[in-house]
Amino acid sequence: MASLGFLSLSSLLLLCLCSASATVEDDRKAYIVYMGALPSDSQYSAMSHHQHILQQVTSSVENSLVRNYGRSFNGFEAKLTESEREKLSAMEGVVSVFPSMKLSLQTTRSWDFMGFGDNFKRNPEIESDIVIGVIDSGIWPESKSFSDKGLSPPPAKWKGVCKGGLNFTCNNKLIGARFYVGESARDLSGHGTHTSSTAAGSKVEGASFYGIANGTARGGVPSARIATYKVCEDELCDSGSILAAFDDAIADAVDVITISIGGAPAALDYDPISIAAFHAMDKGILTVNSAGNSGPISGSVGSISPWILTVAASTTDRKFITKVALGNGKELSGTSINGFKLNGTKFPFSYGKSGSNSCSEDDVRRCKSGCIDSTLDGKILVCDQPLLKGSIGSSKPAGVIIQGNVSRPVISTVPLAFLPEDQYSLLTSYIKSTAKPEGTILKTETTNGVDAPVMATFSSRGPNTILGDILKPDITAPGVNILAAYSAVATLVPGIDDGRRSSYNFLSGTSMACPHVAGVAAYLKTIHPKWSPSTIKSAIMTTAWPMNASSSEEVNEFAYGSGHLNPTKAADPGLVYEITGDDYLKMLCSANYTAGELKAIAGRAVSCPEGPNLAIKDLNYPSLSVRFNSSSKPSEITFSRTVTNVGPASSTYKAKVVSSSDLKVEIEPNTLSFKSVGEKKLFIVKVSGMSSADFESATLVWSDGSRTVRSPIVIYT
Ligand SMILES: *[C@@H]1O[C@H](CO)[C@@H](O)[C@H](O)[C@H]1NC(C)=O
Ligand SMILES: *[C@@H]1O[C@H](CO)[C@@H](O)[C@H](O)[C@H]1NC(C)=O
Ligand SMILES: *[C@@H]1O[C@H](CO)[C@@H](O)[C@H](O)[C@H]1NC(C)=O
Ligand SMILES: *[C@@H]1O[C@H](CO)[C@@H](O)[C@H](O)[C@H]1NC(C)=O
Ligand SMILES: *[C@@H]1O[C@H](CO)[C@@H](O)[C@H](O)[C@H]1NC(C)=O
Ligand SMILES: *[C@@H]1O[C@H](CO)[C@@H](O)[C@H](O)[C@H]1NC(C)=O
Ligand SMILES: *[C@@H]1O[C@H](CO)[C@@H](O)[C@H](O)[C@H]1NC(C)=O
Repeated sequence: MASLGFLSLSSLLLLCLCSASATVEDDRKAYIVYMGALPSDSQYSAMSHHQHILQQVTSSVENSLVRNYGRSFNGFEAKLTESEREKLSAMEGVVSVFPSMKLSLQTTRSWDFMGFGDNFKRNPEIESDIVIGVIDSGIWPESKSFSDKGLSPPPAKWKGVCKGGLNFTCNNKLIGARFYVGESARDLSGHGTHTSSTAAGSKVEGASFYGIANGTARGGVPSARIATYKVCEDELCDSGSILAAFDDAIADAVDVITISIGGAPAALDYDPISIAAFHAMDKGILTVNSAGNSGPISGSVGSISPWILTVAASTTDRKFITKVALGNGKELSGTSINGFKLNGTKFPFSYGKSGSNSCSEDDVRRCKSGCIDSTLDGKILVCDQPLLKGSIGSSKPAGVIIQGNVSRPVISTVPLAFLPEDQYSLLTSYIKSTAKPEGTILKTETTNGVDAPVMATFSSRGPNTILGDILKPDITAPGVNILAAYSAVATLVPGIDDGRRSSYNFLSGTSMACPHVAGVAAYLKTIHPKWSPSTIKSAIMTTAWPMNASSSEEVNEFAYGSGHLNPTKAADPGLVYEITGDDYLKMLCSANYTAGELKAIAGRAVSCPEGPNLAIKDLNYPSLSVRFNSSSKPSEITFSRTVTNVGPASSTYKAKVVSSSDLKVEIEPNTLSFKSVGEKKLFIVKVSGMSSADFESATLVWSDGSRTVRSPIVIYT
């Protein structure tokens, strides 16, 4: 499988327990002690404060302290016993103490597919002032995708460094490198190289996977700079390192952060990515994060914070065709990503029993585990159903043909083709018709034009299990079979070494979708340098392509949020939904955080008013959602929103509502007239006519005739 796993945290925690019991002498575990924002006092030393705090709970600070955070927010990681942890949790200035855990990692056709091709107007000079911070598994600096040809020295505002370790050099493309795990920032798994080049790779002609999908590879902003922060090794990413990477990236002055890492949903003050992204947002830096690969299970989306832009994954219109040529001259058409060249050499087919084998003929044809003939060397194995990993054992088939429809062709370690039923039955009748059936598998060809985008089954689904009234994921983007740069040392199929290496590879995952959105966010920064993270996020969400709901595999707003990334429209959204740092804090008041906790998080006084606070549903979010207790659904619900005019000064927008259910939606007022840029208008959305269904949705569209500002409305129980 080409997708990088998005292991659930519960299984990882089991792993942690196992290793903890192995080390009997040390009952300490690593914890993150989160202390919120840095005090504004210029005399303040985070390091000595951390020492002082630790001294009060442990006799050996040196043995306990793992690392400090103190460039962009406050806190540290330390090894603590249970009683030390309890004491620390109660101390003044400590917001939360939570276990350090392992999170997991979760082309170029994709940009053309969205109309954001090479000819799209852009300004390389301004673009080169933008720095994308990539928090991932590092980078392969020698990849052609990170060539700095034509780029000037780093922008003056850049405060980062190139500390990539031994034998690691930066250039004017890759301007920053830091690593928190391993020996250097060099990418050994390919994941970080892939995401970095998708976001901001330079233009590379003739990029392909063994000639498949040969074309020009480039990132969303090919002239922007990349700073790499390596936090993952062996596909696991340590939360303490993630916090350290954000602490540095914010202080280094990156413009956008892309992080294709995540785990199970966690409370806002216990989730390292939420915590760190809040501080990034407060400094004007948008964090783009992958939704997770745990779909289509309901509630599986791990990235739930309103200040993060959460990205789901869907397909592009690229189709992979792998033909099978038979001995009789006929060709069958299947699918896979087969980079192997058999040069037209014909190999005998092995289908069913050929010698002594205690399995039934049907089981051998199904290639059931333990039923495959041992004499496969130099033959093409034909199977009625997919093989289990390892069932071929040590034999070396020349190829494998499997009956099946695959929506997501993958790379395999042998020549492989999946044939749909009709083609497969032609193959089996040919095999039965001749004494010496033989054939070959051709290299994969690609064409464009299949129906797309289609949501990927693996893409994590809402609802948001922590903040039920914030719709997540926010948007979907290409994340299936994305060709991008790869580490020169990484195996092509993660975890299985077939000896091959390639500087470009196909990967699938919300990990691959995330840097597409980060690239567009960076592009918006070049056109609108003053736009805040919430403005950029709103522009991307309200201009998204509408996606169609379908009952299969839970495809609705919980899968794709506002719709599909539409780079060509995002720069001119007309109206935006802006949210300030204080708005988020007020919203957190109604999520029952105390004023004390919020002050620590924000680094400034926050007054949670007595009585009703800003309801979570009324946060000025670009999508509208509310969760009800099924037994207490009201007859009417209202949302309030404020839009800011970022289009032409004088403009008038009219509201339109599209509802496929019985929901009745009224907008008051339903016409908004603006006279200046930056002008704000408030409106109310009244929803009634709720049925007993547990999911209902509608769409609100503001339009001035040329711009459309779309927001999904989701009511669920
Ligand atoms: C440094 O990295 C390059 C690129 O992988 C490699 O070719 C070279 O052998 C490395 N040199 C050392 C000293 O490790
Ligand atoms: C890719 O296409 C280019 C230009 O058409 C060609 O020169 C090159 O040989 C191709 N590469 C592969 C690996 O097929
Ligand atoms: C096909 O030809 C290439 C180049 O001549 C060679 O490297 C490869 O081993 C051949 N493959 C087979 C299966 O004969
Ligand atoms: C495979 O796809 C074909 C054509 O879309 C369809 O008729 C057939 O039922 C599918 N088979 C399976 C096993 O899903
Ligand atoms: C949604 O359905 C409409 C009408 O069938 C179709 O034209 C459109 O392409 C579909 N959109 C997507 C994203 O599939
Ligand atoms: C906050 O506390 C109030 C009162 O205890 C409760 O009704 C409400 O559901 C809580 N809200 C959240 C988001 O937990
Ligand atoms: C939902 O309503 C039931 C019955 O009124 C109540 O027992 C339950 O606590 C409610 N749940 C929530 C999450 O408010």
